[in-house]
Amino acid sequence: MNQVKQIIHNNIGILEIDYPPVNALSQAVRHGLVEGINAFESDNQISAIIIRCANRTFIAGADIKEFGQPPTTPFLPDVVNRIEASTKPVVASLFGTSLGGGFEVALACHYRVAMMDAKVGLPEVNLGLIPGAGGTQRLPRIVGEDKSLEMITGGKHYSAASFVDSHLFDALFESDQDLNERTIAFVEKKLEANDLNVRRVGEQEFLDENYDWQTAIEKIKAKARGKEAPLVAATVLQKTVGKSIADGMAIEREAFLKLRESEQSAALRYAFSAEKQAAKTKLQAEPKTVKEVAVIGAGNMGSGIATAFLSAGFTIHLIEQTQEGLDAGVERVASNFSRNVKSGRMGQAAADDCMSRLVASTRLETVENCELIIEAIFEDIEVKKTLFTDLDKLAQPTAVLATNTSYLDINQIAEVVSDPSRVIGMHFFSPANIMKLLEVVKAERSSDVALATAMAVGKQLKKMSVLVGVCFGFAGNRMYTRYGREIQQMLLEGAGIEQIDKAMASWGMAMGPLAVQDLSGIDIGHNARSAQPFPAHDPGYFRAAAVMVENQRLGRKTGKGFYQYPEGKAVYDQEAANLIREKGLDLGITQRSFTNDEIVERALLALISEGIKLYQEGIVNRLSDIDVIWLHGYGFPRHKGGPIFQAKQLGKEKLAKALTKLRGEQGELIWPPVELGVLDTDD
Ligand code: 3HC
Repeated sequence: MNQVKQIIHNNIGILEIDYPPVNALSQAVRHGLVEGINAFESDNQISAIIIRCANRTFIAGADIKEFGQPPTTPFLPDVVNRIEASTKPVVASLFGTSLGGGFEVALACHYRVAMMDAKVGLPEVNLGLIPGAGGTQRLPRIVGEDKSLEMITGGKHYSAASFVDSHLFDALFESDQDLNERTIAFVEKKLEANDLNVRRVGEQEFLDENYDWQTAIEKIKAKARGKEAPLVAATVLQKTVGKSIADGMAIEREAFLKLRESEQSAALRYAFSAEKQAAKTKLQAEPKTVKEVAVIGAGNMGSGIATAFLSAGFTIHLIEQTQEGLDAGVERVASNFSRNVKSGRMGQAAADDCMSRLVASTRLETVENCELIIEAIFEDIEVKKTLFTDLDKLAQPTAVLATNTSYLDINQIAEVVSDPSRVIGMHFFSPANIMKLLEVVKAERSSDVALATAMAVGKQLKKMSVLVGVCFGFAGNRMYTRYGREIQQMLLEGAGIEQIDKAMASWGMAMGPLAVQDLSGIDIGHNARSAQPFPAHDPGYFRAAAVMVENQRLGRKTGKGFYQYPEGKAVYDQEAANLIREKGLDLGITQRSFTNDEIVERALLALISEGIKLYQEGIVNRLSDIDVIWLHGYGFPRHKGGPIFQAKQLGKEKLAKALTKLRGEQGELIWPPVELGVLDTDD
């Protein structure tokens, strides 16, 4: 298919890219652009060239689908250079998201016009890459050192309107204007005035030698937290100061190609595609339209959920039993928005608009107009069943009834409703207005329409929604329990508290697992586990946490937990270490020392083993869904891909050996045999 159309409008040659959905720079698009420039350049009737796009956006970047294959000509750097070298003025016409290679094409054009709300950016670092088609060379020539370093190493999207005071755009159009018409009018006016020239950014001087590169690079390194690409990008900029565009692009290309082969880039590209996959379900129903939502329970969780829905434009009925509890909940929601206003994340008018859609009530009857009702009350199956019995009577018969339970059996809750097919789980993660993960839980009788509705709502909330089945803790918390168990076992075997936290955090986890327990309160997990059948066979089963609770060391809130907090800061505590050591010895566990690598490997093996079991049991639909859950719910480092990506990197042979060894030491109940062959499934 011809992916670049050549259209002639009077004396203007238009190259229109039509490669849905996002006009990525496939080989055919690259070829079409070069061919188009050649054709228009040699056509005497043509005075100027416009590059524009059909579909929903200007070019969103290099074609990610081609990344696994050998590069094919014409290479993108050659394409952008050909555009810049055009002897006739070239104008890029931007809307939607012009990212990566797409933005680099625009930067090579002699003029750029855009819709005010168009987004531009160089998000390559999010894929473990740097811009590879002149982005590190042309953007700094236009916006300077500070802004280009921020954009190239941060990978964020920026609205075109935010560049109103820079030279990036030559014209910006309001949302009610027709971009194609306006672009043609822009070109015609300039041609008429004899003011449309060939202006090559690449021919300008490159950057200031006196800029303080060292300080800038140190800051970027601290922010990157183990990610290679931002640092490589900054170093490329520094190395190319004063160089010609050709020399600079050669240095950029070399670094780009090296990163493309790196494990981090493979992990980040895998994460991108795993997220796209998770959104694809085999549900056989269209989602219901949801406008009004009830959240029952105005505690921390309920208030966070309400905040997330209000931010996404829904009307929310927040319901709590007592006026006092309700007021506290409304206050929590209000302070979430005022924090956003203070930090500049939203304006006061937007915050006021959100609060105006909050309807607070102590009457359960107010659920009557809602298409979706989310229960977020405390974790007690009997109390939840009573609530769902009431909802069955009060809610519209077609309303979707969701529970936010973290551990309870949704099948039991569904039983009390006359139509159990409308009962599902929507498991948010705390704080629900910030954490991206949403587990949409399919109970035995949940209907596709109820599940599709929750998935669609999740998308509107900008959550990363993953469809999972019912089991203790669903996919995420079941794995988290397994991870925590292994951490506990290593403590009892002699690994140090600080050592474990440092090993896991320096590997990339957002926080050390024991510091997390201190933060959330060691008693919370302990009480939840105590309510479950206790696995007496397992001497490591959170016995270190139990010892902390027995000694009133509940974490930060009591000033002591795995650490002590004399001035609010975690400090090593010999007493905690002694208590754990005594427990280990009591349980007859031989004490030994651990290396940091061993700690990380054991923790990962526990996650991998439980993750594969979940897949084998059908709790998740794809292995990669597990990685999406861990990336967005548990602070797993994105540049490490996720537990399953790590399993694939380790390889089946090494995994089998390590798991067999642990099975031999600790038994099959802790390390059950798992089918490693499933790692070959391509999802
Ligand atoms: N290449 C190929 N396919 C792409 C793509 C790309 N660069 N970007 C998005 N797609 C595909 C997605 O996989 C998805 O396909 P599917 O429908 O089969 O699942 C489809 O386009 C729609 O994508 P989204 O569901 O993500 O749609 P959204 O509207 O939510 O987001 C987007 C659109 C903002 C463009 C988002 O997809 C995105 O951020 N894409 C990645 C952009 C990017 O990283 N570009 C830089 C690439 S690297 C590069 O250019 C290197 C260069 O410097 C040499």
